Amino acid sequence: MDQPAEIRPMKLHTIALGCQMSEADAEEMSAPLASRGFSRAESPDEADAILISTCTVRQHAEDRAISLIGSLKPWKAADPNRVLIVSGCAAERAGDSIRRKFPYVDLVVGAKSIARFPELVREALDARFDALREQRESFAPEAAPTEASPVSAYLTIMRGCNYSCSYCIVPSVRGRELYRPVEDILNEARAKVAAGAKEIMLLGQTVNSYESEHDGGKVGFGDLLRLMDQTPGLERLRFMSPHPYYVDERMLSAMAECRAVCEHLHLPLQSASARVLKLMRRNYTPAAYLDKVRAARSAVPGIVISTDIIVGFPTETEDDFQETLDFLKEVRPAWAYCFKYSPREGTRSASWPDDVSREVKEDRLGRLNRLMDELTSKALNAHIGRTVEVLCEEPGFGRTRQGFNAKWAGVTRPGEAVSLAVTGATKRTLLGEIA
Ligand code: 5AD
Ligand code: SF4
Repeated sequence: MDQPAEIRPMKLHTIALGCQMSEADAEEMSAPLASRGFSRAESPDEADAILISTCTVRQHAEDRAISLIGSLKPWKAADPNRVLIVSGCAAERAGDSIRRKFPYVDLVVGAKSIARFPELVREALDARFDALREQRESFAPEAAPTEASPVSAYLTIMRGCNYSCSYCIVPSVRGRELYRPVEDILNEARAKVAAGAKEIMLLGQTVNSYESEHDGGKVGFGDLLRLMDQTPGLERLRFMSPHPYYVDERMLSAMAECRAVCEHLHLPLQSASARVLKLMRRNYTPAAYLDKVRAARSAVPGIVISTDIIVGFPTETEDDFQETLDFLKEVRPAWAYCFKYSPREGTRSASWPDDVSREVKEDRLGRLNRLMDELTSKALNAHIGRTVEVLCEEPGFGRTRQGFNAKWAGVTRPGEAVSLAVTGATKRTLLGEIA
């Protein structure tokens, strides 16, 4: 008698390129696949499906996505039943060309269609796995494995961006701002904590422009922090990335008063030349940015500032760049993500000459990184001899409330809060011993 075919759970490998939002999207898109019986695969080799969440914020990011898709051709050819899904910002911007260039991709889902993903993936899988229908349906949604949450979990509270910074592709690939209802956010926070999260990172392109109706009233970002702070078992609350324009007294007082909200503000500056900022359409001046930083520092003692900077924006002169360096020396962010300007087709600035040469961009980036390395070193070294609270994310690795990386010898369980006596620092990481 024939043996029934072995029912082997299918496996999904996810690859998120780019920002935290891309990672959070990949996680969100894994859920409908998990409910259809896919469990996690650590590598492409053992995977029946691969989901790539792509980024297009700079050309380099899109190039990486394209080359990754190209490199998966043999993976797909080895078993045509395998499913390759490409999602996210590059899929939104260049979906047609991805379909044409890589006909073996089964499903291309742009960033604006993420809400429709469960439906799109159902259609794609039904077409592909017709022969496996019975097997697939033996995995009811409720039979899906409940994934443990990472110690630090992402929670998307809004999508899209209503700004139109002249260099930025995000508004065109993600659309206008859409806010999730408060109740959904609080429920997801509770679920993540129940699944093991100790820290939640709220995500949104301009996370602090959040607003929504709740209990008959308006809830702004500060109010949301206060509501989230009530989540039982939640030890730390972070958010990324706020826009300087919406940093206000309500937000800062909530940061100061909420026990879980961490003493860290990642506040993208981009440039400190008033002229360049205007061309960037950032909607603040360097002086206004400085006021926000000062207000944050006086409201939240010990708060650490970090930032994003773009060098080589069209027309940026040596004097403009010098103003940025001088401003950073005054503001003293503890670290910065620094980028060379990359013209993105369809943005306003892409129609202007990209007139700062590659060499000059590289030179400015190098000088900026050297300044930031000094500031980071000073911020890290100031911890030596002190004891800090670290949330362990992996054995021997975690982060302080202010967002500094920390490493130590000895075994600690992920999720454990440890007191670390800081003994030294590397370029980006505190070193210590458990106190
Ligand atoms: N070129 C270079 N950097 C960019 N960023 C966004 N768009 C571009 C671009 N076209 C940077 C900004 C932003 C970060 C997420 O990426 O600094 O804050
Ligand atoms: Fe892009 Fe500006 Fe929106 Fe940030 S605020 S996502 S830089 S348009």
